[in-house]
Amino acid sequence: MKILITGGAGFIGSHVVREFVCKYPEYQIFNLDALTYAGNLSNLKDIECRNNYTFVKGDISEESFVNDFFNEHRFEGVIHLAAESHVDRSITDPLRFARTNILGTMTLLNAFKNLWRNNWLNKRFYHISTDEVYGTLGETGFFTETTAYNPNSPYSASKAGSDHFVRAYGETYGLPYVMSNCSNNYGPNHFPEKLIPLFINNIIYNKSLPVYGNGNYTRDWLYVKDHAQAIDLIFHKGENQETYNIGGFNEWKNIDLVKLLCKLMDGKLGRPIGTSEKLITFVKDRPGHDLRYAIDASKINKKLGWRPSVTFEEGLNKTIDWYLQNEEWLENVTSGEYQRYYEEQYESGN
Ligand code: NAD
Ligand code: TYD
Repeated sequence: MKILITGGAGFIGSHVVREFVCKYPEYQIFNLDALTYAGNLSNLKDIECRNNYTFVKGDISEESFVNDFFNEHRFEGVIHLAAESHVDRSITDPLRFARTNILGTMTLLNAFKNLWRNNWLNKRFYHISTDEVYGTLGETGFFTETTAYNPNSPYSASKAGSDHFVRAYGETYGLPYVMSNCSNNYGPNHFPEKLIPLFINNIIYNKSLPVYGNGNYTRDWLYVKDHAQAIDLIFHKGENQETYNIGGFNEWKNIDLVKLLCKLMDGKLGRPIGTSEKLITFVKDRPGHDLRYAIDASKINKKLGWRPSVTFEEGLNKTIDWYLQNEEWLENVTSGEYQRYYEEQYESGN
């Protein structure tokens, strides 16, 4: 089986590529990635020489390239993760998100449709989405697979748009798809623009920890390797034209999570407990900030038997240890463009 994984040089994609390359030596795995600021081939150093793995640099929204690529390799399965993924960047550059997330997804869907037409037997397009498409929850309740879409940020609106096109290709052309909407991931190789890796990096370098608003925003955190395993399960065992919500059963208010992170990091860095907490700084809130995300993951649990395997304490400890052991990775990704982004996002006084 020839499988295309898009966005495989990114955070979640690299864990999915590794899972598939190592677990299925009989598959040919292709990783298509444009290597934007978020893509990093060093995430895959340990598997890049495997003979069932091929990396191709390319943009999912370039129609003629994508069509030629599909015609050449005739992928039977697509696992689509490539995206612009950071809410704050979507607020400053929304068009880029529409181009990659909506147009890019449509370009892949179209190439897949034109390649197989009605010859759909044993073909599958798996679209990876996010719980953010459902908008925000109040203090109670959970997102289920039937919660109405109500996206609030340009990022979540672009992901919602891509989800709608996937569904529409299923209804209109009979294209066999599966989709999953997952909660916030954390773990190794996470780019330090998102909350957990940004704060780990800042604690290491004694930089302030910019908590948006009052910090009373809630997210449901899942260890990235558990997400990769859920993706494997859904790709192989999920039902066509179905959506699965994936979550961590693990809600944290940002401020409580940041305090826990500070405590664990103080312990690991040999600093007196309380040192890192002093770095917490409450800053201007994110516009359109969603109050709370929480996933009801009972469908994937009941139908496919999936549950997270790692507790939050284990996952967070593994994550911090990974960053402390991979300071070179952190230094490489925080040089260059990152500095400009950081200044514009946190130091311009906007
Ligand atoms: P990421 O930003 O770390 O990686 C995205 C990857 O896509 C990068 O390697 C980048 O180079 C590549 N890419 C971007 N634009 C491209 C283009 N035009 N053509 C080809 N490649 C391109 O993102 P991530 O956090 O790993 O998220 C992966 C997917 O999972 C996304 O679709 C995201 O919406 C979804 N998701 C993420 C989370 C999370 O917590 N990170 C949660 C739920 C769902
Ligand atoms: P983030 O990691 O960007 O994920 P998402 O917005 O997709 O949930 O942010 C997680 C939470 O942390 C969110 O409520 C915003 C907040 N946050 C901060 O308070 N400060 C920061 O510097 C960042 C990046 C996020």
